[in-house]
Amino acid sequence: MNIIESIYQRKSIRKFTDQPVKREDIVTCLEAACQAPSPKHQQNWKFVVIQNKDLICQIAKIVEERHQKITECAKDERLKEKFSKLMRYYTLFKGAPVLVVVYAKPYAMIEERILATQDIKDEIIDQIKATQSAAQAVGAAVENFMLAATHLGYGTCYMTGPAHAKSEIESLIGTVSEEYEMLSMIAMGVPVEGTADKPARLPLEEVVHFID
Ligand SMILES: Cc1cc2nc3c(=O)[nH]c(=O)nc-3n(C[C@H](O)[C@H](O)[C@H](O)COP(=O)(O)O)c2cc1C
Repeated sequence: MNIIESIYQRKSIRKFTDQPVKREDIVTCLEAACQAPSPKHQQNWKFVVIQNKDLICQIAKIVEERHQKITECAKDERLKEKFSKLMRYYTLFKGAPVLVVVYAKPYAMIEERILATQDIKDEIIDQIKATQSAAQAVGAAVENFMLAATHLGYGTCYMTGPAHAKSEIESLIGTVSEEYEMLSMIAMGVPVEGTADKPARLPLEEVVHFID
């Protein structure tokens, strides 16, 4: 499978078989993740790989409980029902043999240090921060991971939904170090047969504008 085929073949997988994932394959995907670009080559990511089924289920339980609490806060019945239905999209990783928790460290900006004493600092710094450079690097790393996994015959799902229980998850599994925070997760495993097709994309004309 070439890279373009992997890109087209990757789709979010939300149901997995119990087949184990080889450690060497996880490592291959992590190495691919770390080949991603990052702002000023800060490589501001860290990954925690969990294959312990009980621990994965405990994390899912934490997410379920938080989801339930948020659902109960909803005063609008339609919103309540809508959010309640999302539960399975936030906890699908409980059926995955591998859960990769992805952490990021804030992007260390030289500009912030240069402008620290200037009045205009906030305005410019806000513009730079709006690019969410740390998150963009993590997104690139996660995509590399998922493409490598696809190439090796695995399915993945990129997840940020469970982040609403981030503090509780971090209390359970620990933080990788003080400056890093959990940004997302990747569920990984062998997909069950007959998973849904990936949703159609917007036509290019809607999302692309050439300036000649
Ligand atoms: C940043 C990000 C967060 C996502 N979080 C979730 C999630 O929490 N749960 C989920 O089921 N899918 C999640 N997805 C997957 C999207 O729903 C999916 O990519 C989109 O519907 C397109 O489908 P495809 O991945 O099959 O092409 C996430 C995707 C991205 C990029």
